[in-house]
Amino acid sequence: MPRSTAAFRVAGSPASAKPRILIVDDEDSIRDAISRYLRARGFDTKTEDSAASALARLSQEHFDVMLCDIRMPLMSGLDALPHAFRLDGDLAVIMLTGVNDAGTATEALSQGAMDYLVKPVELAELERAVERAAHRRNLEIERRNVEWVIREEVALRTEELEQEKRSLRTLTVSIAQTLINAMEAKDVYLRGHSQRVAELAASVADAMGLDADTVENVRLAGRLHDVGKIGVREDILNKPGALTPEEFAHVKDHVRIGMDILAPLSHMPVALEFVHEHHEHYDGSGYPRGLVGEQITIGGRILAACDAFDAITSRRAFREAKEANETIAYLEGYVGRLLDPDVFGALKRVVLRRKTLTFIDDVHGVA
Ligand SMILES: [Fe+2]
Repeated sequence: MPRSTAAFRVAGSPASAKPRILIVDDEDSIRDAISRYLRARGFDTKTEDSAASALARLSQEHFDVMLCDIRMPLMSGLDALPHAFRLDGDLAVIMLTGVNDAGTATEALSQGAMDYLVKPVELAELERAVERAAHRRNLEIERRNVEWVIREEVALRTEELEQEKRSLRTLTVSIAQTLINAMEAKDVYLRGHSQRVAELAASVADAMGLDADTVENVRLAGRLHDVGKIGVREDILNKPGALTPEEFAHVKDHVRIGMDILAPLSHMPVALEFVHEHHEHYDGSGYPRGLVGEQITIGGRILAACDAFDAITSRRAFREAKEANETIAYLEGYVGRLLDPDVFGALKRVVLRRKTLTFIDDVHGVA
C-alpha cells in the first residue's frame, strides 16, 4: 500500500503554475509510467535513468521537484542528494524507495529530502506528494524573500538612523563651538581650553578602554563643560589673584548656568551629565552636588582630571603655566582627593606618551 510521511502536509492550495519535475529511476517501466501520468495531469516532466545523468541535467536545467529512486547502480539517490542541493538549494526532492529502504528514506529526510514514497507508487498519491512538495518549496522561497526584504529594510533604516545621528552630532558640535567661541571671547586665558580638554579627555577615556560611544560623549562634554562661564562676570573671570568667597560662589555658578544653556540639547543626556559633574571631586568635596567616588559618572571624573591638568599647564591671569611632567607630579598629590586613581593613572600614561611623541617629533625636526 503506497504511503507518504505526513510531516510535510501544507494547508492551502498548490502553486498555480504546474511544477517542472525531474524523474530519476533506473527502472524504465516505473520511470515511464510516472512520467506519462504526470504529463497527462499537465506537469512538465523530464526523465533520467541514473543519479549521474540527473545531476548533469540539473546543472543545465531548472526543476521545481525531483522524484528520485534510492537504489540505483553506481550512485544511489541518497549519495546524489548533497550534489543536487549544491546545484539548486531550492530543489524539492521526493525519494522513491522499495519497502526495505524505509530506514534509508528516513535518513534522506534528515538530509533535506521533503518526502518519500514507497514503491509500488499509487499515482494519485504521487501527484498529491508532488503538489505538496512544490507548494512547500514555494513557501520556503517566499519566506526567505520576505526575510531578505525585512533584513534589507532594517539595514537601510539603521543606516539612515546612524546618518541622522551623525548629522545631529555634527550640528550639536557646531552649536557647541558657537557657544564656546562666545564664551572664550570674554576670557583670553580660556581660549582653546575647551578644545584641549575635549581631546585630552577623549584620549584618557580611550586609554581606560571605554566604549566608542562613551569616548565621543566625553569629547563632546569636554567641548561644552565651561559654556556656563558665559554667565560669569568678566572682571571675575580675568581677575589676577585670589577670589573672594562671594566671587568664587559666582564662578561656581557656571555649572548651573551651563546646564540651563544646554538643557535644550536633550538628545545627548550622557554628555550633559558629564558636564554637570566636571567639578565634582572624588572625595566628595566638589560641586554642585558633592558626589563621592563612583557616584560621579566616569565622564565627570575624567573631565575633572583633564580640566585641572589643562588649567595648570596653561597661563592664567594670576600665574604662569607649569610643564606637563611637573603638573602630573603636582596632581599626584590630589589622587583620591580631587582625582579618581584610575583616571589619574590613564591621564599620566596619555601625557607621558604625548611627551614621548613630542620628543620624537623634535628629534626629527617635525613641526
Ligand atoms: Fe568648569
